[in-house]
Amino acid sequence: MRILAIETSCDETGIAIVDTSTTDVNPPAEEVSVTVLADELLSQVQQHAQYGGVYPSLAKREHAKNIGPLFTQALKSADLYATLDAPEIPQDTLAEIKVLLQREPELFEYLTILLATIQKPAIDAIAVTQGPGLEPALWVGVNFAQALSKAWGIPLIAVNHLEGHVATALAQSLDENTFTIHAPRLPALILLISGGHTELILMRNWLHYEKIGSTRDDAVGEAFDKSARLLGIPYPGGPEVSKLARQAREHNLEQPFSLPRPMLHDDSFDFSYSGLKTAVRTLVQSLGTPTDEQKMQIARELEDAITETLVAKVARAIDVHGIQSVILGGGVSANTEIKRALAALTASYADCTLYVSTPKLATDNGLMIALAAALSPTTTSDTIIASGNLPLY
Ligand code: KG4
Ligand code: ZN
Repeated sequence: MRILAIETSCDETGIAIVDTSTTDVNPPAEEVSVTVLADELLSQVQQHAQYGGVYPSLAKREHAKNIGPLFTQALKSADLYATLDAPEIPQDTLAEIKVLLQREPELFEYLTILLATIQKPAIDAIAVTQGPGLEPALWVGVNFAQALSKAWGIPLIAVNHLEGHVATALAQSLDENTFTIHAPRLPALILLISGGHTELILMRNWLHYEKIGSTRDDAVGEAFDKSARLLGIPYPGGPEVSKLARQAREHNLEQPFSLPRPMLHDDSFDFSYSGLKTAVRTLVQSLGTPTDEQKMQIARELEDAITETLVAKVARAIDVHGIQSVILGGGVSANTEIKRALAALTASYADCTLYVSTPKLATDNGLMIALAAALSPTTTSDTIIASGNLPLY
C-alpha cells in the first residue's frame, strides 16, 4: 500500500511517500515494513526565531506557500511525477476544491496548475495530521489533503501527531530508506516530550492510550527553550542548551548552581516545569551577565533537573504498571542525556525495552505521519476537521 503523508502542525512542512508491507495491522502483525520513496521537509524555524517561539499566522502563511512546491518535489523524488496532455479534473470538482481552499488562494492557484499538468499518481491513501498543534497551521495540511483526495478520489487517513511520535520511536531503521515497525511488548509506557507536550501515556492494548500524567504548566521543550532565551540563545534553544551541558560534563566543570527538581517526590505522574524557568531567570539575574563557563554550568544543571524528574516518574510508572516497553517520543527525545538516563533505567529491569526515534526523526517531519498511518492504514475518513487540542486517548 502506498501512502502520501502530510504534516503541518507546527513550524515544519513535511511530506513523505512510503510503501508499506501490510494493509491491516490489527491485531498487530509481528512487524510492518516501510520503504521510503520520498521524505521532504521545509523548516520555518529561522522565520520564527525573531518572535522567540512559533507565531501561528506566520506558520499558516508559510505552510500555504510551501506545501504545493514541496508536494511536487515529493512526487518527483518518488518518481511519481508524470505530465499530462489534457486536463483530467472535471470543472465541478475544481469548484469544490476552490471552496475548500478559499482561505489559501495562492495554494489553490498552484494546485489548479499542477492538477492540469500531471497524471493521477499511484497513491492508495493520503494521511494527514489532524492535530494536536496550531489550528491555523493544521488546516493548511488538512485542506490540501482533502483537495488532493477530491481531485483524485484517494481515501484520507486522519493521523494524530502524537501517534506519529510513537510510531517513529517504534520504527527501526534498516538502512536509509527502509524501516520496520515492531509491536512492543505490553503494557508499554509512552513518554512524549516536545515543545508543546510532556505526557506519560499507558498502552495496555495495542494502539489504545490512557493518559496517566502530564505537565501542569510548561512542557519540557518550553523549559529548555525559555531557559535558553534567558541565556541569550535564540529559539529553539533546546539543542544548544544540551550542547553547553555536554561541554560542562566534558570539561568536568564544578556544579556551583542548584535548580529545583519540581514534583520529584510527589506521588502523581505529573510534571511541572514553569518553576524551573523562573529559577533560571532568578539565577541569571543574580549573576548579571553570566560568563561562558557559567552558561555551561547552568545548562548542565537545567538538563540534570529535567532528566531526573523525567526518570523518576518513568521509574514509578514501570513499577506501578509492570511496564515491559518504554517508548520515548517528541522533539526533546533527541536529547542525548535524557536518552542515556532512560536507557540506564530500563537496563536496570530484567525485561523492559526502551524504544527511541533516531535523532533525525525525533523532531517533526512528514515521515512520522506516514509511519503512524502504516500502523492503521484502513482507518479512512471522508472529511477531516483539524483539531488543535486533539487528544491521543
Ligand atoms: O516535536 P517537536 O519537533 O515539535 C513540537 O511538537 O513541539 O519538538 C521541538 C522541541 C523544541 O522545544 C526543541 O528545543 C526541543 O524539541 N529539542 C531539544 C533537543 N532537540 C530538540 N531539547 C533538548 N535537547 C535536544 N537535543
Ligand atoms: Zn511534534
